[in-house]
Amino acid sequence: MLFFRCGRISVQNAISFCAPLAVILGIMCSVASAQQPSTRSAAVHADDAKAASFVADLLSKMTLEEKIGQMSQISYKEPHSVSHDERIRKEQVGSFLFLTDPVEINRLQHMAVEQTRLHIPLIFGYDVIHGFRTIYPIPLALASSWDPAEAQHAQSMAAREASAVGLNWTFAPMVDIARDPRWGRIMEGAGEDPYLGSRMAEAQVRGFQGDAIGSPDHILACVKHFAGYGAAEGGRDYDSANISDEQLWNVYLPPFHAAVQAGAGSLMTAYMDLNGVPATGNGFLLHNVLRKKWGFQGFVVSDWESIASLKTHGFAAAPDDAAVRAVNAGVNMEMTSAVFRDNLAAAVKNGSVKESAIDDSVHAILLMKYRLGLFTNPYVSLDRVKAELGSIAQREAARGAAERSAVLLRNQAGVLPLKKSVASIAVIGPLADSKPDIMGSWSLAGHAEDAVTVLEGLRKKLGSAVAIHYAKGVEIDRVQPSIFDELFASPKPVLKTQQERDAEFQHAIDQVKKSEVAILVLGEAQNMSGERASRLSLALPGRQQELLEAAVATGKPVVVVMLNGRPLDITWASQHVAAILEAWYPGTEGGNAIADLLTGDATPGGKLPVTWPRSVGQVPIYYSQNLTQIPDETDTRYWDGSSAPLYPFGYGLSYASFQLSNLKMDASSMRPDGSLTAAIDVQNTAAVAGDEVVQLYTHQRAGSASRPRRELKGFVRVPLAAGEKRTVKLTLHAGDLGFWSPQTHQWAVEPGLFDLWMGEDSKATEHVTFSVVP
Ligand code: NOJ
Repeated sequence: MLFFRCGRISVQNAISFCAPLAVILGIMCSVASAQQPSTRSAAVHADDAKAASFVADLLSKMTLEEKIGQMSQISYKEPHSVSHDERIRKEQVGSFLFLTDPVEINRLQHMAVEQTRLHIPLIFGYDVIHGFRTIYPIPLALASSWDPAEAQHAQSMAAREASAVGLNWTFAPMVDIARDPRWGRIMEGAGEDPYLGSRMAEAQVRGFQGDAIGSPDHILACVKHFAGYGAAEGGRDYDSANISDEQLWNVYLPPFHAAVQAGAGSLMTAYMDLNGVPATGNGFLLHNVLRKKWGFQGFVVSDWESIASLKTHGFAAAPDDAAVRAVNAGVNMEMTSAVFRDNLAAAVKNGSVKESAIDDSVHAILLMKYRLGLFTNPYVSLDRVKAELGSIAQREAARGAAERSAVLLRNQAGVLPLKKSVASIAVIGPLADSKPDIMGSWSLAGHAEDAVTVLEGLRKKLGSAVAIHYAKGVEIDRVQPSIFDELFASPKPVLKTQQERDAEFQHAIDQVKKSEVAILVLGEAQNMSGERASRLSLALPGRQQELLEAAVATGKPVVVVMLNGRPLDITWASQHVAAILEAWYPGTEGGNAIADLLTGDATPGGKLPVTWPRSVGQVPIYYSQNLTQIPDETDTRYWDGSSAPLYPFGYGLSYASFQLSNLKMDASSMRPDGSLTAAIDVQNTAAVAGDEVVQLYTHQRAGSASRPRRELKGFVRVPLAAGEKRTVKLTLHAGDLGFWSPQTHQWAVEPGLFDLWMGEDSKATEHVTFSVVP
């Protein structure tokens, strides 16, 4: 029996028959509907009655002020006029964020549990986005693995470390769909596609929370930012999002729904206006969609000061109005600003907020504290800290995740993997030996000194047998300093004269000239991605392009390793360099993983979770547009250049090569509650092993609304030995074809004719049709 990890579930594989030189395996993967009810959420609430009665009893003893205290979260690091100890003793705080010292966490917790009237434990939250002390690949990279089980494992390991210091809650996963790489936070999500995004959302929730909320060594997930943050106009962080209902339901909301169905216990609002109403004061989102339609039972936290900013938006008249609007819209806890603390009691007294709304919030928060086990086991044992943080198991998992996340974009004449006979390599570039940069943004608790750079990884792997000539070549200077520089161990800006810079540039080219092959490690400094890191241009920042062109001009084969949090303009490179390996920000073990990949000890198998533009003028860009007036001219829509992407969604190469053929369906039609199975033969035609991600796309030919030309509806990452052939089967449920129709304003699976493609990326050519019959 063999088990493989597939797009949505682990699947059991059975050998169907043998052929000369090839074993053909049937790989069944059910493509379950995002609309299907979750058995998991039922399990999570197994001891509901006991918990509910405990919480109801506690709630009945609380004063209004104590209740409002539970709804208030304080940043441990922010300046404060009243000490944290005093706030705790007066029961004016229910949660802290940005505290990671286990001794201090215990001290505060002892105070909350032992020195207060009600003995209610605190919940400690932190941004564990892609690792805690051991930094894993950024979420966009984890999505590039096209392996939800990998994402789940990485976040479960991150939860282990975070829980070891006493954290109970992460502000992740971010599940915002992003189709505009100018937006810096594209790195925090799973890219452009609602189906892939949903699978990654639920996998990460399971990774953080474990089998159920309160699982040992796990933490509470917080799905964010509800909703539409990724559609910020112009890619400018915090700007308004204007999203049609059709796009909201079919594109932006599904990953949130999937995360809720997977049992996510908390959710964070977004900063921006959604269609004219700030997300933090948006009752449609928080009541109608989240609670009424989806049955969400957890609690909602605002984003940082986003309740106070309801006034800044020109939505609330004053802080007291902001408090009323946020709580009445369905926000249960306020992150950092004190608008709830200062105004809610008066609002209840003057009738603008019902005390029942306060009770609902506190009930949801206390219930989660109960489920997390905080009432019975509030303290962290210091024993785990040393053993867990940066352990060998963590480092190995981080290295594996980084290997599975890398995407090989180009490989001319098999320049990669590097030949065993190579005697000299130039390792060049501003990111080649930068420890903070390889960790990427949101690596708050990571230690730069733990990180392995590409230069270090290659040196360690190749030893003294290969001469490695290193030069930085150029600097990357961020034009606007980042407000997060202090938090994220960002490299300090370098002050060098032009003469020194020119000399460094020339030195780098000299290293290329004296080497057999050059590896240029290019991209963005880590503080160019993430929050408040929108970019006007997607060009390689600084003089990196110039450096690249000069390196190529030497005539030596040039391999580009990219470290970045968004697609960049590499159109020139895609035509002139020998190979491009997209490693994203691969984390603490990035250098070792990249060395494995470059030398062939690991084979790249990731695929792009985003459509890669040629030029910033093409954005927003995504593969699943609707068909248009002249569909065949989609690639020639601009008079001054191609409108085709540089690399399509789902694209990625391997050191192996694959042939996909013989696409068949087990039936040509199904009913709206039925399913059918598509099967395709996948053969590894190379002499090396490798993984192929088999992808399934559909298109509805006609209906009550125009539907995208293609939509991902299933995938599975399949390992294939050299020469191996397998039959990959994906089961498509009719429910997967359902969509929210802008005509009927309802979800429906509409009868009619559908196209189905299976293949290596969103340009898959193996094609069949099928019908949904009433
Ligand atoms: C603001 C960010 O938008 C959010 O994602 C994060 O979790 C909070 N700050 C806390 O750091």
